[in-house]
Amino acid sequence: SSNIPVIAIDGPTASGKGTVAQQVAKRLGYHYLDSGALYRLVGLASFKRGISTASESDLIPIAKNLNVIFQEDRVILDGEDVSDQIRQEEMGKRASEVAVHTGVRQALVARQQAFRQKPGLVADGRDMASVIFTDAVTKVFLTASAEARADRRYKQLIAKGFSANIDVLLQDLRDRDARDANRSQSPLKAVEGAHHLDTTSMTIEEAVNQVLKWHQASQN
Ligand code: CDP
Ligand code: CDP
Repeated sequence: SSNIPVIAIDGPTASGKGTVAQQVAKRLGYHYLDSGALYRLVGLASFKRGISTASESDLIPIAKNLNVIFQEDRVILDGEDVSDQIRQEEMGKRASEVAVHTGVRQALVARQQAFRQKPGLVADGRDMASVIFTDAVTKVFLTASAEARADRRYKQLIAKGFSANIDVLLQDLRDRDARDANRSQSPLKAVEGAHHLDTTSMTIEEAVNQVLKWHQASQN
């Protein structure tokens, strides 16, 4: 599978990874992996079973045996559409708590790598370039200021009909940044050779076009 091109897009929460990755995949006709959804699913499945995010030995079998189907933009867990449930900020927090455990991360490696299918894959997360697809042909580290990211998340939640508080969002986002960047296992950081893209004052379309340009250049 190493001749199948991968575009790895890593970055902090609400930097625009998912939106940009999905659009790049669409433009190229590539597959798409939302790796964060897997950690959110472990967070949700453990929550439903009353399991603490601190209990690594109980979380590992859940991560190994996730019964999930990705259908277009819907996520089906044990036959139930959980797309909206896993998008809640509370589940993002739980995801980052289960994601600190080595055993949980290892249990999800093969499942992520299986998304690498012809003609190519766009994968977004925290460790796509550093751990899961180290031979990705195009590596992008996507960022934006904390304020811009909190503002984006706020608008996204309001648009979906959820209530949100910008100050709480900003604090949660800073906490999650710290947890993701400071953990010992696969911390969020840019790898050597990654293209840095600060989207604070960029439109989605500009970001998508920049990634496509880098990918095109890597193919020559
Ligand atoms: O996947 P990640 O958490 O990094 O972010 P996202 O869910 O793709 O993007 C968060 C929100 O920011 C979405 O509503 C995007 O439409 C918006 N966004 C934006 O306004 N400008 C950008 N340059 C990128 C994303
Ligand atoms: O969309 P957003 O960036 O807020 O979150 P996400 O990509 O859905 O990821 C949720 C949490 O899962 C992150 O805060 C990370 O702690 C964890 N995660 C990870 O550790 N490794 C990945 N490849 C993806 C997500």
